[in-house]
Amino acid sequence: MSRHRAPAPPDLYGRGRSDRLMRFLAAFSDVYLPAVTRADRYGQRPPLPTATGLELVVAARETEADDVVSLRLTAPDGAPLPRWQAGAHLDLRLPSGRVRQYSLCGAADDRYAYRIAVRRIAGGGGGSVEVHDTLRVGSRVTVKGPRNAFPFAAEPAVLFLAGGIGITPVLPMVREAARLGLDWHLVHTGRTRASLPFAAELDALAALGGDRVEILPDDEYGAPDGAKLLGRAPAGAAVYCCGPGPMLDSVRGAFDGSGASALHFERFTAAPVRDGRPFELRLRRSGAVLPVPADRSALDVLLARDPATPYSCRQGFCGVCTQRVTTGTVDHRDGRLTEQERADGRIRVCVSRAPEGSRLELDL
Ligand code: FES
Repeated sequence: MSRHRAPAPPDLYGRGRSDRLMRFLAAFSDVYLPAVTRADRYGQRPPLPTATGLELVVAARETEADDVVSLRLTAPDGAPLPRWQAGAHLDLRLPSGRVRQYSLCGAADDRYAYRIAVRRIAGGGGGSVEVHDTLRVGSRVTVKGPRNAFPFAAEPAVLFLAGGIGITPVLPMVREAARLGLDWHLVHTGRTRASLPFAAELDALAALGGDRVEILPDDEYGAPDGAKLLGRAPAGAAVYCCGPGPMLDSVRGAFDGSGASALHFERFTAAPVRDGRPFELRLRRSGAVLPVPADRSALDVLLARDPATPYSCRQGFCGVCTQRVTTGTVDHRDGRLTEQERADGRIRVCVSRAPEGSRLELDL
């Protein structure tokens, strides 16, 4: 098998500027923190994850807004859980075997529970519907993590921009900014007021004073405009943004003309294919040949053939979609696979591709 080394891929998290501090924080959160997780003050150690993850139980389920539920997850024996920091997420394995990523949106200093929130998306990949329809108090789930691909660096001045359910990773950051006494401002946008989760918690943050929280539903204020949102940034502020694709694209487009110092953001949908060229997949076991158009990913094509194809983040970092290439040249675009993994033929099909007109054979 030959391999093609592509130029450095675009930043998967959409960071507008190279940011060594953020890379350091992500590595610190992913590698160092779990290694030094200590016993709590009662001498209990967090439960050790099994090879397949950590089994947790749904201890509470709340309706947070139209089509949004939150789940409070605890260890079955009430043991403390591994520590996490604002921006972290869990990989949640659902009873069907689907794996989906959900940001932790509870209190980072609560050692005994994780909270996630999920909006039901009827036309999505089925994960959110499964959460809504099958997970009840007492249900068991398996999780991996917490891991952090969206770490908060606690800059002195911060603008938080959250679209709809994108408030989930942002909420712990806002609490941290308030706790540290930073100069922060939060804008939460969404279709309607009734669609926006955690209104009471945001009201409590707003009650801290300083006009720091703005709620801007689309049906009252219009669709969010990147330049106007960035206009709320305190001078030299870092911007943390999580929301739907059009909002992120608008903020990214306006960032260079703003006075903000850095932009960090997290998508919860697949990033659009950039610089795509058509190529083909061949599935070794069936011999099927599947064309991959320029504007679609290999994962999209595999999902169209088999909706059970595993995936989670669709952005190249979780590894759930990894397949093995038996023949062909890979244009690796994930930035996460090691040289050895690439040499072993691994490919993350949600983002990686092949040169125009060529064919990759997958061990499927
Ligand atoms: S789905 Fe997460 S790396 Fe591809």
